[in-house]
Order: sequence, then structure tokens, then C-alpha cells
Amino acid sequence: MTTVTHLECSLCGTRRAAGQLHNLCECGGPLLVRYDLAKARESWNRDWIPNGPSSMWRYAPVLPVSKPSAITSLGEGMTPLVKTPRLGARLGAQDLWVKDEGVNPTGSFKARGLSCAISMCVELGVKKVAIPSAGNAAGAMAAYAAAAGIEAHIFMPKDVPQSNFIECSASGAKVTLVDGLISDCGKIVAARKDAEGWFEVSTLKEPYRIEGKKTMGYELAEQFRWELPDVIFYPCGGGVGLIGMWKAFGEMEELGWIGKKRPKMICVQAEGCQPIVRAFEKGLTKSEFFEGAHTAASGLRVPKALGDFLVLNAVRESDGTCIAISDDDMIRAGIELASDEGIFAAPEGGACVAALQKLLANGFLKPEERTVIYNTGCGLKYLEAYSPAFPR
Ligand SMILES: Cc1ncc(COP(=O)(O)O)c(C=O)c1O
Ligand SMILES: [Zn+2]
Repeated sequence: MTTVTHLECSLCGTRRAAGQLHNLCECGGPLLVRYDLAKARESWNRDWIPNGPSSMWRYAPVLPVSKPSAITSLGEGMTPLVKTPRLGARLGAQDLWVKDEGVNPTGSFKARGLSCAISMCVELGVKKVAIPSAGNAAGAMAAYAAAAGIEAHIFMPKDVPQSNFIECSASGAKVTLVDGLISDCGKIVAARKDAEGWFEVSTLKEPYRIEGKKTMGYELAEQFRWELPDVIFYPCGGGVGLIGMWKAFGEMEELGWIGKKRPKMICVQAEGCQPIVRAFEKGLTKSEFFEGAHTAASGLRVPKALGDFLVLNAVRESDGTCIAISDDDMIRAGIELASDEGIFAAPEGGACVAALQKLLANGFLKPEERTVIYNTGCGLKYLEAYSPAFPR
């Protein structure tokens, strides 16, 4: 079971008790969950993991849930890590892999975070949850809330993919379409939550979603037999998947499961919404609000991320980089991935393929480096984005 000890502010270091509801620290910093990894190291062995559940809950000792009955699972995680030699040959990458998060319940990696967050809501007695979302997190929250019997209130941009609107509505959530971006949705939730009695599940304002997302890092190490790759491409909206994986690598080193080697972390954004890329290029530690954000990769339409400083830290510490991709290039690359390998990716995944092409061309990466692309969602959720490429 869990080895959780406390939560710690990522800005000021203040400690909070585990086993309680939390949002941000008083200083405005996101709280991160901490574990007794020395105890976990004594009582848990990485060789036993395959005997655990065939889901992300096989890593329960480093997840925050303490009552097994609270776990709300639809089978999230343990997604395929697919070797992609045909795409590799096209791009000039000799050791290329795709971690296909599109096969998760609700068709995106957001299932991991929301399985963990909703499980904590069950454990702590929450009856109503609210979320501002770019789309896929809303779909995942609606599904897990339905599975847990919790009332779900969703606020997302009015032009989210139709799949997101329908999946949320079908799962019984109360959906509000907002004339604005995720940042505007966040303001509405923050303003109404106290009066409505909602617990806010905004990413990083709620400390447990990142814990689910970090299992992408544990799983990658397990699937590569505890040897991390040289390079990871990750499509960053809020960047929480990247921050979570970076946290997982640190935890695994403390557990004695991996060494000091870390992959170069590549933060991929859209040209039409690239606040973290801009901050990286200017040498800043935080991003500025990106005005007029627009992109077909709806999950990347996050004009200002709460955890931007954590993404920038991880990218810099890893000797990685940040890169922006045009919508045309991400759709084209998504179609190349599908036609070469049979993986129909979200535009967010396509953006990572296009980014790899650029970083090989400019010499930032070498063809022989072991490279993993995270396809964070299924292309079937983005029919509007792909439709112009396939007129009927
Ligand atoms: C398919 C997809 N990829 C990537 C992201 C970005 O997620 P993160 O917060 O981890 O940057 C999202 C967020 O909505 C998404 O839906
Ligand atoms: Zn703080």
C-alpha cells in the first residue's frame, strides 16, 4: 500500500498533512506528494511489479491512495510501447519508439491523472467535483466521476472537439461550454466552487492528478527493463505529464531502481500557443500569458501553465529543449505515423513526430539515440482536425 508521508510546496517547501483535501499552497505554489521511499525500498522490489494489477495501480506504493476500496480504475495505464522502425526510417531515427497513450480509457493519458484524483476524492468523501479543461481531462473526469458516483461539473471552451463534448455529456456530467479558453474556464470554477460546494480538480491546483500522470515515467522504465531512453518527446499544455515523469525518475533513483541517467526532455508546443517555448528561448524561469492562443491540438491550448517553472527546470536540467510546431506539420506528421505504423495519433502526438524531424535535421539529436514519443491521445477524438486532409 501507499508509503505517502506528506505534501510539500514546490515553491516555498512548506509541508502539509497527507490524507486531507488540498488545493494550492498559501504562497500560490503547487503541492507535490512525498513518500517514504526508504521504507518503500525495503518493502518493495521492482521484480514483483509484473505480479501486480495490469494498470497503473501496480505502482500503488508510490501513489497517494491509502484505502484500496477507494481506487477507481477503468484499466488506465500499461499502454503499449511500440517500436516504430518504418517511421524511424522515414525520419532517420534508428531507435524510435512510441508510447501510445491513446489506448487508455477515454482515449487519452488524462485517464491516469483523473483515476488518481477521483480515487482520492472517494477516499476523502468528496461528493461534487468541478474542472476547467481543454477537453480530454474533462472526458476523463466525467468517466471516473461516473464510475465513482460523484457529481461532475465541467467547464471547457465552446469549440472543444465534439468527442469531448459528447463523452462528457454521455457520462452524465453537467457541461458548460465557455466562450474563451481553459484559463477563462478556470476563473469560473474558482469563482463558483465555494458557493456550489465543488472540489476543484484543476491540474496542479489539485495535487493528485500529477501522481497518476507520473506513472507514464514508471511504466517506461519498467518496459525498457529499468534503462531510461536518451530522449523523450512530450506535448506540453500544462506540462504536467512531463513534470510528473521527471518526478517519477527522481523517485525511482531513490528507490534504487535506476541510476543517474536522465533522458533529454523535449517540450513540444503548438506555434499558435507556445508560452513555454518563448520562455525557454528568452532564458526565463516562468512563462508569460500567451495572447490569442489557437491550435488544432486542443490539449496544447493552455496560454499560461501553473507549473511552467517546473517544466522549464526539468527541460534545462535534462539538457533538453522546447520547440513549437505548426498545425499543418502536426497533422501531416500524424498521418505519417498512422500510415507507417498503424498508430492514429492525436495532433499532440503528431506534433512530437514533427518535432523529432526538426531536431534531427538541425543536429540537436543524433540518429542512434533511443527516442520515445508520447502520443498522448487517440486520433479518433480529433475528427474535425483531420477531416480537411480527407475530403469525402
Ligand atoms: C491529448 C493531449 N495531449 C497533451 C496534453 C497536455 O497535457 P499536460 O498538462 O500534461 O501538458 C493534453 C491536455 O489537455 C491533451 O489532451
Ligand atoms: Zn508554498
